[in-house]
Amino acid sequence: MLVRLLCLVASAATAAIASPLAHPRAVVERGSTSSTDSCPGYNVSNIVKTDSSLTADLKLAGPACNAYGKDIDALKLLVEYQTEDRLHIKISDAAGQVYQVQESVLPRPDNDAVGASGAALEFDLTEKPFSFKVKRKDSGKILFDTSGPGGTLIFESQYVRLRTQLPQNPSLYGLGEHSDSFQLETHSYTRTLWNAESPFIPNHSNLYGSHPMYFDHRGGNGTHGVFLLNSNGMDIKIDNPSSGTFLEYNTLGGVIDLYIVAGPDPVDVSKQYAEIVGLPAMQPYWTFGFHQCKYGYNDTLDVAEVVANYSTAGIPLEVMWTDINYMDKRQDFTTDPERFKLSMMRELVDVLHSRNQRYVLIIDPGIHVASNLSSYKRGVDQDVFLKTANDALYHAVAWPGVIAYPDWLAPTTEEWWTGELGHAFDPKTGIDIDGVWIDMNEASNFCGDVKCVPEVLAQQDNIPPEPAQAPRNDTGRRIPGFPQDFQPHSKRDSGDGMKGIAGRNLLNPSYGIHNHQGDISNRAIWTNISNYDGTAQYDTHNFYGTMSAYTTRAAMLARRPTKRPFVLTRSTFSGAGRQVAHWFGDNASLWDHYRTSIQQMLTFASLHQMPMVGSDVCGFNLDTTEDLCARWAMLGAFQPFYRNHADITAAKQEFYLWPIVTKAAKKAIDVRYKLADYIYTALYRQTQNGTPLVSPLFFAYPNDTNTFAIQTQWLYGPSLLVSPVMDQNSTSVSIYLPDDIWYDYWTGKAVRGHGKSVTLNNLALTDIPLHIKGGSIIVQRAFSAMTLDEVRKQDFNITIAPGLDGTAHGSLYVDDGESLVQDPLLDLEFDWDGENLVGSGYLPSAEMQVMNVQILDPESASSAGHKRAVSVDGPWKLSEGFKWSL
Ligand code: GLC
Repeated sequence: MLVRLLCLVASAATAAIASPLAHPRAVVERGSTSSTDSCPGYNVSNIVKTDSSLTADLKLAGPACNAYGKDIDALKLLVEYQTEDRLHIKISDAAGQVYQVQESVLPRPDNDAVGASGAALEFDLTEKPFSFKVKRKDSGKILFDTSGPGGTLIFESQYVRLRTQLPQNPSLYGLGEHSDSFQLETHSYTRTLWNAESPFIPNHSNLYGSHPMYFDHRGGNGTHGVFLLNSNGMDIKIDNPSSGTFLEYNTLGGVIDLYIVAGPDPVDVSKQYAEIVGLPAMQPYWTFGFHQCKYGYNDTLDVAEVVANYSTAGIPLEVMWTDINYMDKRQDFTTDPERFKLSMMRELVDVLHSRNQRYVLIIDPGIHVASNLSSYKRGVDQDVFLKTANDALYHAVAWPGVIAYPDWLAPTTEEWWTGELGHAFDPKTGIDIDGVWIDMNEASNFCGDVKCVPEVLAQQDNIPPEPAQAPRNDTGRRIPGFPQDFQPHSKRDSGDGMKGIAGRNLLNPSYGIHNHQGDISNRAIWTNISNYDGTAQYDTHNFYGTMSAYTTRAAMLARRPTKRPFVLTRSTFSGAGRQVAHWFGDNASLWDHYRTSIQQMLTFASLHQMPMVGSDVCGFNLDTTEDLCARWAMLGAFQPFYRNHADITAAKQEFYLWPIVTKAAKKAIDVRYKLADYIYTALYRQTQNGTPLVSPLFFAYPNDTNTFAIQTQWLYGPSLLVSPVMDQNSTSVSIYLPDDIWYDYWTGKAVRGHGKSVTLNNLALTDIPLHIKGGSIIVQRAFSAMTLDEVRKQDFNITIAPGLDGTAHGSLYVDDGESLVQDPLLDLEFDWDGENLVGSGYLPSAEMQVMNVQILDPESASSAGHKRAVSVDGPWKLSEGFKWSL
């Protein structure tokens, strides 16, 4: 059967190809008649100072303005000098009724309570009316300032506004998830944070994740970071009117829970942010392999055929994936009895595992409401689902039809989910998956608005079997045939009786954030639904998906307690990197989205502490093209998560389908795999101290203003500059080389960067410019292989790329690649002083060999005939504290 699986050629899935409709952007501006001009602000009293903190009372300074809710009369202010670099400022209601993000979702950082005198930042309070400034103590530079025009604090039951003045032309980054420029726009710009189903990742829109964290980079004056710990829907507005540039938070509720970190270098800000939201999770080594997926593989043989085709083409395939097609009528924890028979899938996994390849399957959080579905029945028995106010199950609609959404805050949900997942993916009786992909967890609801469901219930037996080859209507992500004009669900409440301030309108707050789906409940779980702990989806919506991913990780851990779980989630909230990985959702096969993937990667990995990220390579929606796919195969190889994935309505796009893409992918994967330990080391460092595994150029050259807006190049690991061709039909690229010495990775030749752009020409579809940063030592495997298991058995080569001062540094971390807790096999630092290569660090017993050391020649930049490099052959055994004179 093994042979059959790999040799049988299943009839090709001829996916119907259709041009999805353009995605509509419905922007709701409610409450625009309300005026905030008459809002009175607050006055300060009862100031109590200690060495490391300040508390005070805030009282409404005049008649309430009730702009978009009810002004809260009494607030309290807490300021803490938490660490030398971190200031915490919290403004909450004195009564303590306003919703605050549960500690179980995001544990608060330790407060070291350093004395104000030892802190890098200083808090300045103005009492009447209340405003504050945060300054750098050493330079006096103001980083955050609410005293400017329009800065009056508004704190209402359903609307909170806080505004800070900014320098005239600020360099701001972050506030993901978005598809806008990496360096944020500063004119009439709004970042909406409201996790939403977002086909075609529209610009200027909220997407799948919410990370209310920004970097403010001021070049020689340092970088600081500002994190607002608030999960409510919000618009963050940045604008530069004549009265001065500002950034303004407009939230639908919650408290002001600000963490300001001092940097002063960009990397410091990343590290300091990690101290707040947590260091990211270490991922299994194999996750750096190449992954293949498609929505629309017809059956097990179709999947097996793809695996076989990769092998035949000689393109390494590390991980095979299967989308919802494997399920019986798209129901979680089932397999299609005809096309994805359990026995066949088990055999497929055995084959993959025997070849050291891996298998990942999708699950969606919504469980089909079907009386014959055991996971649903057990869920009902164990009371795990979200309910309406009259204690009925809350119904939404997703791929299987009518679904119930788990309540991740209910005490029994994790046990139930762990049981379902453990059973379906039991290595002995189920499908022995290596990782899980959790999707649709914003949570997506195909119901267009809150009037959906009963008719869908009536139609649920008519759902066409998967794969539904009909073109998908991307305006609604709904299953064709489902009516749209539904009657309201039985009973909805107005929010009374739930935690949080009473009397709120949880469905239609009068401040309308710019949710691209329209009302906040559109295509989402209704925001008036309460969670088990009494909090409302209105407040917790933005981390629903993160909770589903955390619970999935816990379930994977329960199944294999000693191994690092790999969980890929679409929806994220601040801190999600602590546990899970992320891809950028449903992009399209567009050159624009190819470029966008760079800034998305940088925003997540460098700014938001989610390192294991990437886009759907070659594009998800629409048919890709040969040249786009070739370029993307190369670009994606230098992003942490590297998966080719396409929609059911898109043509197949496996790399082997075109000779040129095959060539490009082979070349890129060859280098990626040789560099696997290099990037794995960089990930490990990020999990230990928050230093990002990829970074924008300004992280390495913070004083070089030319780097601030660069979003077409990035550093992969600490030392490798990636500068792909950006445009269709182009064979050249203009790249920026900061004032430093660089070495062409492919030729070893030095290039002196002068802080100028240079144009590289004649770049075929199989070329991607890579430059080693002077001063680096890169340790890579001598040979690549078809799987990372094989790569791990190869010896090392070392490349020394001396910096302008002739020295170089690098590091290497190796462990078993998958154990959750372990001692590394090796954790070494390498230093080059111009003559000697010195190793220091930790190397317990592993026998690791270096075959060759190459010392690149800085002079080769100028003298064409000069020797390019010195190459010294080993082998040498790596040992603790070695010193090689070369
Ligand atoms: C969502 C996912 C996509 C997946 C599809 C079917 O659109 O974002 O990746 O292929 O659902 O499960």
